[in-house]
Amino acid sequence: MGKDVIIACDFDSAEKTFAFLDKFTGRKPFVKIGMELYYAEGPSIVKEIKKRGHKIFLDLKLHDIPNTVKKSMAVLSRLDVDMTNLHAAGTCRMMQAAIEGLTRPDGTRPMLIAVTQLTSTDQESMENDLLIKQPIADVVMHYAHNAKTAGLDGVVCSPLEAGKVHETCGNGFVTVTPGVRFADGDVGDQKRVMTPAEAKKIGSDYIVVGRPITAADDPVAAYERCVNEFCD
Ligand code: C5P
Repeated sequence: MGKDVIIACDFDSAEKTFAFLDKFTGRKPFVKIGMELYYAEGPSIVKEIKKRGHKIFLDLKLHDIPNTVKKSMAVLSRLDVDMTNLHAAGTCRMMQAAIEGLTRPDGTRPMLIAVTQLTSTDQESMENDLLIKQPIADVVMHYAHNAKTAGLDGVVCSPLEAGKVHETCGNGFVTVTPGVRFADGDVGDQKRVMTPAEAKKIGSDYIVVGRPITAADDPVAAYERCVNEFCD
């Protein structure tokens, strides 16, 4: 499986997104489209970025009853993205339904990965708000195991958890890790961060990088730096 850097295109319009992507002459980075951009522009933004030749991770984090998720995934499968996701908290039955919906008539489907516990959730909020009393690391591994059992391809997790996820679910089970920062860069609102080189060492398969690239003075140079540290 190829390691890759995925740029989080957290913009609120197609115009800003294309102004950003136009800087990458000759390179076609793997792009993450999240809720902000998708809700602003709808399916057309996915089609247009795809037409430009980029791979796409559609990060919409589905979580609903199995039938609704299955039917929504069937619609998303027609957008021809490369990767999409859901919340493992929706249960194994919901994840199995998602796979069924996402699988096209010819048997192909985008990669499907699960969010375990969001990195914004900590032990205290999990215990107090969700009444889940186990250690958060155990909950993350349990959800990863559920995702694997349901037939998913991997999980979104903190780079700090990637090694343990591979130990629990095997090296073929993909880890997609946000929370990446350069050693000399701003941490911003991310709490637990790693450099691209550290994420590589710990075994992340894909790093998701937003502001260190999108807010850089030279986004292309920042992207190349990520690729050099993480992929080479
Ligand atoms: O700008 P930054 O590099 O922090 O962007 C990280 C991206 O990864 C954002 O799009 C954010 O929504 C996403 N993400 C995250 N933590 C998670 C899941 C997704 O930061 N646990």
